[in-house]
Amino acid sequence: MADQNDLKQAAARRALDLVAPGMVLGLGTGTTIRFFIEGLAGLRVTAVPTSEASADVARAAGIDLVEDPRRPVDLAVDGADEIDPELRLVKGHGGALFREKMVALAARRFVVVADDSKLVDRLGRTYVPVEVAPFLWRQTAERLGRLGASWTLRGGDASPYRTDNGNLILDLTFPGGLDDPERMAADLKAVSGVLEHGLFLGLARGAIVAAATGVRVLGTLD
Ligand code: 5RP
Repeated sequence: MADQNDLKQAAARRALDLVAPGMVLGLGTGTTIRFFIEGLAGLRVTAVPTSEASADVARAAGIDLVEDPRRPVDLAVDGADEIDPELRLVKGHGGALFREKMVALAARRFVVVADDSKLVDRLGRTYVPVEVAPFLWRQTAERLGRLGASWTLRGGDASPYRTDNGNLILDLTFPGGLDDPERMAADLKAVSGVLEHGLFLGLARGAIVAAATGVRVLGTLD
């Protein structure tokens, strides 16, 4: 039976079929996308990485990296933590959600790669990460709590996790999941101190999902 790593690799490999020479790519972050980045070795592409970790993998694969390309991003490929039937996502368990969202928004086509453990009926099964400014972050957390979430500071008080942007992550749990992800996305965005949240709504055009029974495409890859 295929283990989870095999499934991640199978999904990533299918996404490599979407890549053409000369493209500007957005490179996500995480264990699934790592297979995709490694698979780009030898291809003539330019890429915008969403984290220092992905930049390191891309450099090792010999890929040219840019921070702010003059041309549009043709294709962004990234992993996800939750994928619902409408291809709405929770992302950011790897801490890179801020740059991941910037890249997804900048891309003409945004495609997700995942194993089938990420499929959910309703978003909020796990937790929704939010990147917040370190300044007065407890006040920000209190305001987030008023939205019905319980929160934890990633890494804990003694050694908080820092994003590549130097900020903090609050992981939000919503008992029972999210009834209305669009409404919650707007509410999270309106909280002062919140820089970005891990709800990616209306961004993914397609998802490549690998299961023990095979790889399938949700939505479209066009
Ligand atoms: C990082 C992310 C990742 O894409 C997400 O956590 C999935 O990671 P993995 O492929 O390791 O399961 O959002 O911020």
